[in-house]
Amino acid sequence: MTTLNRRTFAIGAALLPLLAGSGRAQGALPVITVHKDPNCGCCGAWVDYLKQNGFSANVVETSNLDKIRARLGVPAALRSCHTAEIGGYVIEGHVPAGPIKRLLAERPQAIGLAVAGMPDSSPGMDVPGAKDSYDVTLFGKAGQKRYARFQGRREITP
Ligand code: CU
Ligand code: CU
Repeated sequence: MTTLNRRTFAIGAALLPLLAGSGRAQGALPVITVHKDPNCGCCGAWVDYLKQNGFSANVVETSNLDKIRARLGVPAALRSCHTAEIGGYVIEGHVPAGPIKRLLAERPQAIGLAVAGMPDSSPGMDVPGAKDSYDVTLFGKAGQKRYARFQGRREITP
């Protein structure tokens, strides 16, 4: 190895972790698989919203969501209109992008996140003028807890 090559190699090796780190932070999100009914309009609007927020989505149309929810362990009380899978977690309903990214970064012991029902102000619902606030719930074998609280697309303090 010439001196120049050694130096180039050393610089490259030093930069590698930095490059890998920035790749993870900006957009190397795992693909999200979204199970939805073919006739669900708000489900499609939520998928569009996720794409606008850096996700790539694989949509699977189905009319048997309850079976998928039972298999994935979504509690009945947290059910909404669509069920998604990303990075080993389940995302039920109109969950905002921020908490999904936080979940993937923090990787808590849990099955996933849910926004129960279909709050009017949640992403994909976007009922004009809606100002209702809603919980993003972390659920798993250990139970459920509030992971975030939102009003529209804005996180608020509980
Ligand atoms: Cu919906
Ligand atoms: Cu939906």
